[in-house]
Amino acid sequence: MQKYLYRICLFIALASIFASCGKTVTIDTYAIIPEPVELTMDKGSFTLSSSTTCFVGNAGQNDPSIKYISRMLRQWHFNPVLVGKPESNCLQFILNEEYDQTLGDEGYTLTVDKDGVVVSANKDCGLFYGFQTLIQMLPEDIDVEHYSKITLPACHIKDSPRFAWRGSHLDVSRHFFGVSYVKKQLDLMAAYKMNKFHWHLTDDHGWRIEISKYSQLNDVGSWRVDRDDQPWGQADPAGEDEPRTNGGYYTKEEIDEIVAYAAERYIDVIPEIDFPGHCCAILEAYPELACEGDDTTYTVQFGPYWPPRAILCGGSDSVMQFLKDIMDEIIPLFPYSYIHIGGDEAVKDNWKRCPRCQQRIKQLKLRNEEQLQGWMMCEIENYVKGQGKTIIGWDELLEGGVSNDATVMSWRGTAGGVTAARHGNDVIMTPTDYCYLNFYQANPEFQPPAMPNSLVTLYKVYQFDPMPAGLKEGQRGHILGGQCNLWSEYINTPEMAEYMLLPRLCAMAEDLWSPLEVKRWPSFRQKVQRHIIRLKANDYNVGTGSFRPWMATERQPDGTYLVTFDWEVEGTHLFYHTGDGNFRPYKEPFTVEKGTKITTISLFHGLLKEKAYEFVCDA
Ligand code: ACM
Ligand code: ZN
Repeated sequence: MQKYLYRICLFIALASIFASCGKTVTIDTYAIIPEPVELTMDKGSFTLSSSTTCFVGNAGQNDPSIKYISRMLRQWHFNPVLVGKPESNCLQFILNEEYDQTLGDEGYTLTVDKDGVVVSANKDCGLFYGFQTLIQMLPEDIDVEHYSKITLPACHIKDSPRFAWRGSHLDVSRHFFGVSYVKKQLDLMAAYKMNKFHWHLTDDHGWRIEISKYSQLNDVGSWRVDRDDQPWGQADPAGEDEPRTNGGYYTKEEIDEIVAYAAERYIDVIPEIDFPGHCCAILEAYPELACEGDDTTYTVQFGPYWPPRAILCGGSDSVMQFLKDIMDEIIPLFPYSYIHIGGDEAVKDNWKRCPRCQQRIKQLKLRNEEQLQGWMMCEIENYVKGQGKTIIGWDELLEGGVSNDATVMSWRGTAGGVTAARHGNDVIMTPTDYCYLNFYQANPEFQPPAMPNSLVTLYKVYQFDPMPAGLKEGQRGHILGGQCNLWSEYINTPEMAEYMLLPRLCAMAEDLWSPLEVKRWPSFRQKVQRHIIRLKANDYNVGTGSFRPWMATERQPDGTYLVTFDWEVEGTHLFYHTGDGNFRPYKEPFTVEKGTKITTISLFHGLLKEKAYEFVCDA
């Protein structure tokens, strides 16, 4: 007994030494992304320490948000004692007794004053988001450093999202990503209050979900020869009998694990089964689902499959049965109400030649092959509707006739989204120019390979507004929100996926959550620097950003033009000349005559990051 007591005393002594040996810090300013709707700084402060307690009121200890919060606090060694009523030196997480309409389901308020921190919300999701904000108020290295005391300046925050759909997509077909990376992306989404994970599970380059009824999809369609050491598009063809070692798929247990992990972070998972195009992996596994007369030998391959001609036969009853069977296996795995059924870039050359497809067009009195695709999509839509699901499709859906209930994902610009909203369909905006994070984030000369001829800088992402101009009041409500997409042709490792996502996902999160009135590029650029420190501390690989400046000109009374440069990455050193070849540092705006050519270069930490870039002041 004595030995036992001795051990307890030793444990308490060690624990208190450990608790007191952490660092202490006073936070100066907050850098919250996405920017809250209202953030007011107050006088005074509160110090979080090992003696801080926690009150969870009616939320209860078993509420998922409270479990998450407790786990994180323990991880940071704060381990607050749960108390039965609010007291001073306390963290409070409280569900409102009365629903506050101004907060909605996801909103929250957060107050820091001398007595502690109070987070309140209508729903546990709001408590979770309030806690995500609190995390960002703590030191950037909180996850790797031990702090015993953190002093937070007093403030009041009232916050709720601008859009309900705040999505992030991952293509796991072009390259397969294991469960651990998917979880890492979900963590990132949760940190930035994003709530829809669009999982692009099937495409020409690999089928990535276990299907019991069609095992060839996994045995054949999920694998290809390994060419990851060669550039996409220039890889050697597969040798005869060469083993197919590259690929993989998620088992049903793994899907359950991801869906549960996402749910703990208030993220809904939307699976995408892409048809009738982008089906090379299906057609290698089941060639009989191709059009009559199509003698192509389909092979799951590395490198572009372009134009994407691998299309399921639109006239085959076996194809429709196959799709329904797939839906029967998918639907029980994904509790969220949406299923994405693709529909993009289906080249219909085969359909034009196929007697079965032509027969179906005739029999259904359709006008053309586009309408045949429209019919297929509607058939599957009706099938899944019977099981309580709503479909989403890419904006090609509009070409074949779309039902009123389908949600349209507008990717080829925003025009498709505008048409769909006017038609009464819900819309998710994901135009390539702002939302394709597989595009280069900076001058390709300084970047790892990405989609050729593409550029979407952090600044560009920050300019994204999912709400297009020209919609009437009643139509605006159809714009559910937006989403960033990560296609993985050129992304073959988790590190590269993170590099492409970050920090651009931070800009996307602010586009989707924050009202336009509180979005400010200069302050966002500063906040991002602090987030990069936090992200790196959490082992994320963060992109370098773009070092290309941009120019604004303003006509002066004397007819000259005042030239101002701005850039993306804090700490960029810009040099310029106006024709004499003598580069000088850019310190402040300067005037030039109309038509002057201005050449700039950008340095960062002494390294050339952007070569001579020419602007013409043509106002
Ligand atoms: C797409 O990028 N093909 C939707
Ligand atoms: Zn056909």
